[in-house]
Order: sequence, then structure tokens, then C-alpha cells
Amino acid sequence: MHRSSLLAFLLARIISSQAAQTLIPTTCFSSESALESYFNYLYPWGSDHNGGARMDKAHIAISSDTLTLTAQSVTGQPSTKQGGKTIQINYLSGTVNAKTHFTVTAGGALNFSAQFQAPTAKGTWPAFWLTAVQGWPPEVDMAEWKGDGKISFNTFNTSSQVEAKDVTYSDPGKWHDVRAELRDENGKDVAVKFYLDGKEEANQVGKAFVGTAMYLIIDLQMEGSSGSPGPKSSTYF
Ligand SMILES: *[C@@H]1O[C@H](CO)[C@@H](O)[C@H](O)[C@H]1NC(C)=O
Ligand SMILES: *[C@@H]1O[C@H](CO)[C@@H](O)[C@H](O)[C@H]1NC(C)=O
Repeated sequence: MHRSSLLAFLLARIISSQAAQTLIPTTCFSSESALESYFNYLYPWGSDHNGGARMDKAHIAISSDTLTLTAQSVTGQPSTKQGGKTIQINYLSGTVNAKTHFTVTAGGALNFSAQFQAPTAKGTWPAFWLTAVQGWPPEVDMAEWKGDGKISFNTFNTSSQVEAKDVTYSDPGKWHDVRAELRDENGKDVAVKFYLDGKEEANQVGKAFVGTAMYLIIDLQMEGSSGSPGPKSSTYF
């Protein structure tokens, strides 16, 4: 199997709190054992999703309180299937999902904060997102970078009823603060405020998200919505 040099990195630091109780502490990336007490490897459903990267543990690293996910171009991987579509696997990469599931309860709220250095080049598709444990939606993309120099904030009521906001994302090689505040709006719907570097960028509402458990995922997907072909050489942001 041919392997080219290291390609794309996503670096992340995180905290999550619910009603003043910290659910994932900032120390969660202080060591491999700390990571493993708060996160599982891969997607909750396995190694593949809707892009050109297959996840494995070898592309996840911890150092200096930082999680590093690295995508590497490969050939010879079997393809995957998503929604009846065959997807070519051109990368191995890394993903983690939180062991805790997150539910905005009636009258409740959840805040998520993380810092990222995230690539925005064509073919790189990192994300920090919440998605339903059972069925779908809810989905809240607290940060998604789709290879176009922007960061996207999205809330899905259905696959076609989506609130989406794209904002220019400059200096991807520098740390940026991403924050999402979710709270019960009316006993049924969840209001989501999205912040980038302390500035409120979007205010969206998810239909009937109250009481529904969500996974928290940090992944470095490739190609798919971020375009293809993705990068084949060099390290970059
Ligand atoms: C979330 O952050 C907002 C703004 O700082 C704060 O008012 C609220 O109490 C926080 N909620 C939780 C659950 O930590
Ligand atoms: C999703 O549903 C909520 C609650 O009904 C609504 O406020 C919001 O506008 C909907 N989003 C879209 C994109 O229609």
C-alpha cells in the first residue's frame, strides 16, 4: 500500500457544562487515559461515515492538552456505502465521540466550548457536532469546515429544513474559540447560539430537540461535502 506524507490536522481542546456542572473537563486531553475516560474512538456507529476517510485509532494523538486528528492519503482501501451510495475511501483519519450523551432537558441548558485549529482547504471536512443517538435529527453542527475557507453553523429539523450560516474563517492555523449554547426554548424546541472567538454568529432553533439524547463527535472527515479530490501531499491548514 502506498502512503503519502501526513496531510491534514485538526487540533481540539474542549469543555462542556450543563447547569453549572462540568460534564467533560478541560483536562480530557491531558493524557491518553484521560481521553479514554471521556471519549470513545471512531464514530459511535463505526469507522465510516459520509466522506472519503475511514477512521482508526492510529490517527488520533494526545499531547499538550490537545487532541490531534490526522488524515493520511491511502490507496487500496475497500469502498464504503452511505445512503445507498458507494464512497471511495482515499484517507485514513481520526474521530472521537464522547461517552456521555447530551440531552437538553425541559427547562435545561447545555454549553459546549472548544478551541480548534482546523484545516479549510478543499477536501478537508473537520467538524465538532451533535447528532441523535436514536434516529435523526437532532443534529447541531457547532462547527463544520467544508473546505472553502469558511466555518458553518447548522441546525437540522429535517434533511431539507436546515438553518445554516457560513462565516469566513481566517487564520486556520491559529487557535479559534468555538462555543455553542443550547437551551430549552418553549418546552419542546432547543435554541442554539453559536459563537466564534466570542462573537455571536448565529441563533437557530431545533424542532423538538428537548429530551432527545445526542452524541458529541469531533471528526476529521475528508472529501464528501468539502469537495474532491482532497490533498495528496504536504502538511497545511
Ligand atoms: C451557558 O453560558 C451562558 C452564557 O455565559 C450562561 O448564562 C449559562 O448559565 C450557561 N449555561 C450552562 C448550562 O452552563
Ligand atoms: C426548525 O423548527 C423550529 C421550531 O419549529 C423553527 O423555529 C425553525 O425556524 C425551524 N428551522 C427551519 C430551517 O425551518
